[in-house]
Amino acid sequence: MAVLAVTGSQWGDEGKGKIAGYLAARADVVARFGGGANAGHTVVLEGREFRLHQVPSGVLFPGCLPLVGNGAVVDPPRLLEELDALRAQGVDVDRLRLSERAHVVMPYHHLLDRLEEQVRGRASIGTTGLGIGPAYTDKAAREGIRLAELVDPDALARRLAEVLPRKNRLLQALYDHEPLQLDALVEQYADYGRRLRPYVGDVAAVLRQSVADDRRILLEGAQGTLLDLDFGTYPFVTSSATTAAGAAWGLGIPPWWVRGSIGVMKAYATRVGHGPFPTEQPNEIGQYLRERGREYGTTTGRPRRCGWLDLVIVRWAVEVGGLTGLAVTLLDVLTGLDEVRIGVAYRVGTQRIERFPARLDVLERSEVEYETLPGWREEVGQCRRYEELPANARRYLERIETLTGVPVHLVSVGRESAQTVERADPFVAAVR
Ligand code: IMP
Repeated sequence: MAVLAVTGSQWGDEGKGKIAGYLAARADVVARFGGGANAGHTVVLEGREFRLHQVPSGVLFPGCLPLVGNGAVVDPPRLLEELDALRAQGVDVDRLRLSERAHVVMPYHHLLDRLEEQVRGRASIGTTGLGIGPAYTDKAAREGIRLAELVDPDALARRLAEVLPRKNRLLQALYDHEPLQLDALVEQYADYGRRLRPYVGDVAAVLRQSVADDRRILLEGAQGTLLDLDFGTYPFVTSSATTAAGAAWGLGIPPWWVRGSIGVMKAYATRVGHGPFPTEQPNEIGQYLRERGREYGTTTGRPRRCGWLDLVIVRWAVEVGGLTGLAVTLLDVLTGLDEVRIGVAYRVGTQRIERFPARLDVLERSEVEYETLPGWREEVGQCRRYEELPANARRYLERIETLTGVPVHLVSVGRESAQTVERADPFVAAVR
């Protein structure tokens, strides 16, 4: 049973798209289990760039079945646009299957996301503004609309007639916003439902059958552990479960079927949106990382906050995500620095903190204890074997292994899928 999760070990944007794309080439099924259009995955194959938001990277490989599970939220007009763009690039998207249990992001979710952020003022989260939080809120509040209803015009009309008056009262009373029109909304979304109907089905059943057929299955995460609703820097988090546990829940398979979890981590750290970031470098180091790493959001275009690698958070990802291997990305970005630093612990006063704290104020008051290693000047983009990497780069990677206790299976040295150093096949390592 080769079921492997690929999850982010930091604050998202770790290069999961690149790693998922690299592994999807040898997978039979790739399944997304959480998040929605807030995710932005870039896969570069033989010089061609594909930008994915809601569609799993498996769509790029003809022999691979791309699935979107119940744990994800689907934004119909954005998904239809993404499918059109992929088709225009010559990608066959017909194999895509979306869980009928996945929730739909509606226009009032977009509105509420932005209005809630305005009201939060200085305490705003810095969301992507794509309605993700309000859509998951409605799911938990049992006010959501699922794809099963979207694709049935009568069910959609009935459900919206129940839900929309409450949303309109909220929009008017709390935010002084004009109400949305029921008939127009039903008509617009019934049309989306008609166009999405061919893709909607029982994804969990497809996945269970794939496991029974002994297929290689990749569970593609979105965002990162530090954005997980429970284990992240709450409340500066997204609204879904981003770890391997979320994969089982978000796809309708038993957790013990997930044989391994490869944690994707940048060789340094970045964050978009607000919230604490202990190793942040708002200086020339941060600027160097931002420019060399092209650290601007795929989804929002926002410049990312950049800093040194923080192994307190990666160890946390190892603990809560049960990581069995690491994929270190963007190693090439560190080339040219005299020295590289790794945050290994936090300090508040005389207290040394090794485990990621739940309290944000502790995090905000934390000083970081760093280890400093020598840097390297050689470009690494052409390296394909581990031995070809500069000695100091290998030393850096081996220090990460020692400090996390997890082997580095893959090292990414450039945007192209082929620019990957493979030390072990994560699928093989997972079933061992
Ligand atoms: P939301 O997911 O739009 O609600 O945003 C909540 C937080 O998660 C914000 O800090 C976003 O910047 C962050 N976030 C959401 N999706 C991603 C992602 O794919 N990469 C990085 N950050 C993300």
